[in-house]
Amino acid sequence: MTLEQAKEKLVKFGQEHVLKYYDELSEAQKQELLDQIEATDMSILEACKHKEDLAQKGVITPLAAMELSEIEANKESFTATGLEAIRAGKVGALLLAGGMGTRLGSDNPKGMYNVGLTRELYIFECLINNLMDVVRQADAWIHLFVMTSDKNNDATISFLKEHDYFGYKAEYVHFFKQEMAAATDYEGKIYLEEKGKLSTSPNGNGGWFISMKNSGLLDLVHSEGIEWFNVFAVDNVLQRIADPCFVGATLQKNCVVGAKVVRKNAPDEKVGVMCLEDGKPSIVEYYELTEELMNAKDAKGEPAYNFGVILNYLFKVTDLENMMEKKMPLHIVEKKIPYLDEQGELVKPEEPNGYKFESLVLDMIHQMDSCLPYEVVRNKEFAPIKNKTGIDSVESARALLQENGVQL
Ligand code: UTP
Repeated sequence: MTLEQAKEKLVKFGQEHVLKYYDELSEAQKQELLDQIEATDMSILEACKHKEDLAQKGVITPLAAMELSEIEANKESFTATGLEAIRAGKVGALLLAGGMGTRLGSDNPKGMYNVGLTRELYIFECLINNLMDVVRQADAWIHLFVMTSDKNNDATISFLKEHDYFGYKAEYVHFFKQEMAAATDYEGKIYLEEKGKLSTSPNGNGGWFISMKNSGLLDLVHSEGIEWFNVFAVDNVLQRIADPCFVGATLQKNCVVGAKVVRKNAPDEKVGVMCLEDGKPSIVEYYELTEELMNAKDAKGEPAYNFGVILNYLFKVTDLENMMEKKMPLHIVEKKIPYLDEQGELVKPEEPNGYKFESLVLDMIHQMDSCLPYEVVRNKEFAPIKNKTGIDSVESARALLQENGVQL
């Protein structure tokens, strides 16, 4: 893109200020900035001016979960079906590790965090240990795909290589990078993070399938015959990955998505809950849950919206491919965004100072025709590390790991 073309685009979207330092840049930096301007989707930035319109939900009705008693009664059969699919190479694992983990406050990728006390035990290591349990049970390797972003790709790959993938077979580990999106102030003006660089952040975890396709890895998915992806977050150190019983239950129920859920511990607990929205599976966020929905009861007199998602989903590949053309809803999230101040000095704010633009994996559920919410025991499978201390923290996850017999 030439400078003239860049100016034209910037004027159109009210972002001319990003050229403030253009004349100070070297020729190479100038070209990099022009390339970045060309590649940035600025049409989404306006959305922050009418944020309220983005969250319009349809009609919410309950979606029953498969509860622990039903799972227990069918455990053998579900597990056999799941193991068969895994042995046939039909199940892949997909680790979402492109996030910035700002709440944890470490500059390293979150997976590099050491949760050990008397020994080193990294988050990545916990996850791989969990997956290895299934590899051993099935006596078959499972392809593990890891999504990173520009901000943490190199550090993630070198860390895992240095540690020999914590015993995982290298040929079965594949990395790809997600796309980035511009970050803005509260007026929707793009921040600069360097004189020749727009502030960007990963574009949310909802773009994982498209990013995987863009990276060329879909060819491998097809050639290896992977039909299902167990998508999971980097921060839940207790989760079971490619869990045969979960896979088997989803397959036997003929659903195109399975979602691991936990029973809420209070009606107003801050988790997204499974539901139907306009008759299709969906997730309603805790802040969207009205008083009426919060207190609604099902036929058995139990709370009707009682199962929260834990970001562990099983997706059917053919259905993911069919939804690729559909537009994902945009989420505008307040975050701390490093930026250049009026003097051109880099500031790392202590408090949120603007918006990031993200799409979320939970919105993919609503694009699918059927979904099985599958209950798991919270204390055995849910130990997320979001914060340094308090709720969902390193401290709470350590206690849960110990409760489950993991030596720290
Ligand atoms: P979070 O919602 O916890 O976001 O991500 P985050 O950006 O990592 O953390 P904070 O909010 O800044 O503290 C849930 C999962 O989705 C992944 C994360 O790595 C985590 O596994 N994720 C999130 C991505 O892969 N890409 C993204 O753009 C955002």
